[in-house]
Amino acid sequence: MFPKLVPMPSPNLLTERDADKTPILECINLGINFGGLAAVENFNMAIGRTEITGLIGPNGAGKTTVFNLLTKVYQPTKGTILLDGNDTHNMTTAQVNRAGIARTFQNIRLFNDLTVEENVTVAMNAHMRYNMWTGIFRLPAFWKEERVAHERALELLSIFNMADLADTKAGSLPYGAQRRLEIVRALATNPSLLLLDEPAAGMNPSETAELMENIRKIRDTFQIAILLIEHDMNLVMNICEGIAVLNFGRIIAKGTPEDIQSNPAVIEAYLGKQKEA
Ligand SMILES: Nc1ncnc2c1ncn2[C@@H]1O[C@H](COP(=O)(O)OP(=O)(O)O)[C@@H](O)[C@H]1O
Ligand SMILES: [Mg+2]
Repeated sequence: MFPKLVPMPSPNLLTERDADKTPILECINLGINFGGLAAVENFNMAIGRTEITGLIGPNGAGKTTVFNLLTKVYQPTKGTILLDGNDTHNMTTAQVNRAGIARTFQNIRLFNDLTVEENVTVAMNAHMRYNMWTGIFRLPAFWKEERVAHERALELLSIFNMADLADTKAGSLPYGAQRRLEIVRALATNPSLLLLDEPAAGMNPSETAELMENIRKIRDTFQIAILLIEHDMNLVMNICEGIAVLNFGRIIAKGTPEDIQSNPAVIEAYLGKQKEA
């Protein structure tokens, strides 16, 4: 059912489907130190252009730090990040976003007092073509772009069946809907790689099941790559093609869901304490 993973020249694996194309992301020996602590070390990972990849591991393993490195919240102490084959060395958060990486956060970050639609169009803004002057003088180009943004926002919201909530204040949405809106906002910047940090956290089982379908739908519709951090193993094992397991900042296992589930080091990292008991 799942595609095979094939080796690359570097110590990485790629989905067979995407293997003849430049990976959308490649990390080579990536690392960062906080004081004396190597929060992430020797991190090697490649992601195919249409691949859904999981990044899992116990709390404090360094998963969110990897996202912060990819989005340049932190500059790496060591190693290389290639985005679509291009070195992102010296790029800023805004630059890597424009180059194709969008993310959601472990803790929701929305503009609570703006409407659902406004939250989406604000994210879109950086990518819109009209400039300040056409905006100020309300020239035809402005109205045209404004209408395009409105239609695009509704189109993206409808992926999650949220178009009818367009005029609702983001802060008054139920929790699950806020998490979905965050994903729509990230999609509004037209990413080629979408990073999701614990998207199912706090969701009930039916919301999680719906999210799982939506993540697949996003990949199929936009033909983009998705890297997700998630603790819900049912979700991870069902939708991820490749999985990397982090423990104390290092990858301890990498492979297909089948590989990961039967890997002794993974079982030890997750269940070590129970084994001792
Ligand atoms: N800005 C920072 N300064 C110092 N230590 C940090 C910083 N960010 C993360 N860490 C540490 O790095 C480790 C990994 O954290 P994190 O990436 O948030 O883990 P995870 O997302 O896997 O739960 C933790 O020990 C955390 O305390
Ligand atoms: Mg985290």
